[in-house]
Amino acid sequence: MVTLIPGDGIGEEIAESVKEIFKAAKAPISWEEVDVTPILKNGRTVIPDKAIASVKKNTVALKGPLATPIGKGHVSLNLTLRRTFNLFANVRPCVSIPGYKTAYDNVNTVLIRENTEGEYSGIEHEIVDGVVQSIKLITYEASERVARYAFHYASENGRDKVTAVHKAPIMRMSDGMFLTACRAVAKDYPKIAYDEDLLDRVCLRIATDPTPFADTVMVMPNLYGDILSDLSAGLIGGLGLTPSGNIGRDASIFEAVHGSAPDIAGKGLANPTALLLSSLMMLRHMNLYDIADRIEKAALTTIGEGKAITRDLGGKAGTKEYTEAILAKLK
Ligand code: IPM
Ligand code: MN
Repeated sequence: MVTLIPGDGIGEEIAESVKEIFKAAKAPISWEEVDVTPILKNGRTVIPDKAIASVKKNTVALKGPLATPIGKGHVSLNLTLRRTFNLFANVRPCVSIPGYKTAYDNVNTVLIRENTEGEYSGIEHEIVDGVVQSIKLITYEASERVARYAFHYASENGRDKVTAVHKAPIMRMSDGMFLTACRAVAKDYPKIAYDEDLLDRVCLRIATDPTPFADTVMVMPNLYGDILSDLSAGLIGGLGLTPSGNIGRDASIFEAVHGSAPDIAGKGLANPTALLLSSLMMLRHMNLYDIADRIEKAALTTIGEGKAITRDLGGKAGTKEYTEAILAKLK
């Protein structure tokens, strides 16, 4: 059993598409659907106990978009979930879809983002009127933990290098310590090469030519990973096409990281690809490789043939046509 959090806006529609595709592919998954409508307790956003209990019990969840409110007294529910389950590594691959044309056809990047601290620690205060401090919290423990996961991921997924992405000349202590942790872990993986590069330089290089990044796993602090993963997604056609997995020791949540698109919600126009690809990461996490490969092949060939191109990608297909085209390919 897997927990399903369809989410806000287009969440229901894209989750429905994934469920239909799983059913047709005979994926051995049964869904426990939960609602995570936030409850505000003493100014803090909390997730309903039932949803937490479900993820705890199943240890694997698939999640659609949850709207992030801006303003005081609100904490992003997405972040609350990551924090609640201590999902320390956020894995974000970006792979070109053959046939779907963008500036490059050979993008194949994997970015692993520290997912529990950094600028996302939520420690902010106003020192005096007009002066605010936001704390970037970096611990050796979390840095080492995510670095170890990056090396482990590289060795399991046939990539021969780990690249730590940083800004240590400026963030001397925090990023400096992040690098110290990465270097220490690198010693435990003699077969995996290790190098380091500056965040701004990586942005420039990857936008100029993503080819050299196809062998490496990039690992970095939280906010850098948030930004660089969107840049990478842009190279293959946007967040509508990129999966993501939040990995923890006791639970993992696979999620589409695009928005909830309230403007098109309920209109049958949403693109389920990001959630579908996230669900395939989930299947592989559960060692269901064959089914994941089969669904992936069906989905990517359908998109590549131009048969399931939704409006966000410049096509005309609605969610229903998208799903039906993939179902036909699965047969
Ligand atoms: C992401 C999103 C989140 C983040 C938001 C929704 C809080 O942009 O998963 O990348 O900033 O991490
Ligand atoms: Mn983001």
